Amino acid sequence: MSDASICFIGGGNMATSLIGGLIASGRAASDITVSEPDEGRRRVLTERFGVHGVTDNTAATAAVMVLAVKPQVLGAVCREIGPGLARRSPLVISIAAGVRVDSIARWLGFDAAIIRAMPNTPALLGCGASGLFANRHVTSAQRDQGESVLRAVGLTQWVQEEAQLDAVTAVSGSGPAYFLMLMEAMAEAGVNMGLAPATARLLVMETAFGAAKMAMESAETPAELRARVTSPGGTTQAALHHLEEGGFRQLVGEALERARSRAATLADEQEAG
Ligand SMILES: NC(=O)c1ccc[n+]([C@@H]2O[C@H](COP(=O)([O-])OP(=O)(O)OC[C@H]3O[C@@H](n4cnc5c(N)ncnc54)[C@H](OP(=O)(O)O)[C@@H]3O)[C@@H](O)[C@H]2O)c1
Repeated sequence: MSDASICFIGGGNMATSLIGGLIASGRAASDITVSEPDEGRRRVLTERFGVHGVTDNTAATAAVMVLAVKPQVLGAVCREIGPGLARRSPLVISIAAGVRVDSIARWLGFDAAIIRAMPNTPALLGCGASGLFANRHVTSAQRDQGESVLRAVGLTQWVQEEAQLDAVTAVSGSGPAYFLMLMEAMAEAGVNMGLAPATARLLVMETAFGAAKMAMESAETPAELRARVTSPGGTTQAALHHLEEGGFRQLVGEALERARSRAATLADEQEAG
């Protein structure tokens, strides 16, 4: 078993993106195994990427085990593979939303080195943002190994406390939907002002993309960039003033706090289950 070997348990949407990203970044297909019960999905992965496909989760061994199944089946999967893994102590990476490392370790049945990752949906397009937390059994070499897996589908950021992953969930996990809702509202406003729906939608999408690109490529903060594009007495200022007066900033803060608190509750429920 080479140090570069990676096995995915579950070959669904997220695993497909991670595998595609790893292959695109130069990882050898021969180092990657995927255990996936669905024959169609398994064949797509083996034919498209040349990775090794298996159906028996306990037959899959690697230095890095990526748990890419739905949270509801993670307990059963961990109990199934735990005894085999205990003998080899690989790095375990879980991308299951809202399942804490202590639950995973308990289900596996040994003090595993576990990285819990919280990716988001744009990872499916290779431009995700993932928060990562490592438990105390993860070595620094394993941190690098784990980070390189998630980096294959976008940005990675480490957090020191596992509870901070609930904040990551609120910011970037659920975040794409907030931007999409703003895009929806802006396009609707454009239509109400007389633009054709397709025109309004295209203008909004390109504007969102352009604003994100400006923020990412500039050395200035979003607040500084915003100040630079807001002329005193101009149109942008008129709109921003109305948003501030209406409590936009506070509403966003409260909304994200709702998401964080919901993430913590869902994790509590998984832990109790
Ligand atoms: N998609 C996202 O944007 C996103 C974002 C953040 C986190 N996540 C997390 O990523 C994980 C995977 O999500 P996904 O969207 O990739 O889900 P998905 O497409 O449903 O993939 C899960 C795969 O696991 C397979 N599977 C089910 N039971 C299994 C078992 N016992 N052993 C091995 N494989 C099994 C499923 O096969 P069947 O279909 O035949 O059951 C399916 O192909 C989830 O835990 C989710 O919380 C996803």
